[in-house]
Amino acid sequence: MNRINKDKLPRHIAIIMDGNGRWATKNGLRRIAGHRKGAEAVRKVIRKCREIGIEYLTLYAFSVENWSRPEGEIKALMSLLEEFLTSELREMLVNDIRLTTIGDIDALYEKVKKALYEAIEKTSVNDGMTLTLALSYGGRDEIVEAVRRILQDSKEGGIEEKEITKEIFADYLYTTGMPDPDLLIRTSGEYRLSNFLLWQSAYTELYFIDVLWPDFSEENFVDIIVDYQHRERRFGLTSDQLT
Ligand code: FPP
Repeated sequence: MNRINKDKLPRHIAIIMDGNGRWATKNGLRRIAGHRKGAEAVRKVIRKCREIGIEYLTLYAFSVENWSRPEGEIKALMSLLEEFLTSELREMLVNDIRLTTIGDIDALYEKVKKALYEAIEKTSVNDGMTLTLALSYGGRDEIVEAVRRILQDSKEGGIEEKEITKEIFADYLYTTGMPDPDLLIRTSGEYRLSNFLLWQSAYTELYFIDVLWPDFSEENFVDIIVDYQHRERRFGLTSDQLT
């Protein structure tokens, strides 16, 4: 912990929590047991972020593509999410965490939506950290949806073609008002973005770790932040220009 330089913290960390299924297989368990263990890792990381002073944490909890998984697994994941939202509400309130969400929320099971909206409402005034759950989320869907909404606004006279800039476009994304992620972590040893925060991660530092999400530890997390703090972010400039 004290290896972390408090003056150089990433403001926003995004995580692709991958490897629950493989963890379960490796341990001779059913896939859902992997997700269950994964939810414990989620709790640990949220707590650690709060302790370190991270402002935004965004977790890829369910992708649009995940709807194609076997029905039993989808049901189990939805139940787990509902359980998590209900059981973590107190902790979010005590720890001053604001919950938000990105994705096609309408598509979620009713019971999840209910728990989600309740937690979002009850935590809305908190400002210690913003926890965003990406649910039924797809980066390409988000971009297409933004285009649709811009066209709609344009038809209604709300926006003109020449007004469309990168900044204005970003306001039409689910993540409006949030800073882009500084650091994106993917567990399980896979090296891809899987449709996560495609627009927002243009200049994000990426970290791929060969640890299955349920095994992801606080120590792994601290190591990654320390690694991030040793990187030089140039945003297309030269090193000399930065000094
Ligand atoms: C990827 O592992 C993980 C998911 C599709 C779901 C993520 C869910 C959790 C971490 C638990 C619930 C979430 C919260 C916020 C409580 P995988 O199933 O694709 O693993 P595999 O690639 O090894 O099969």
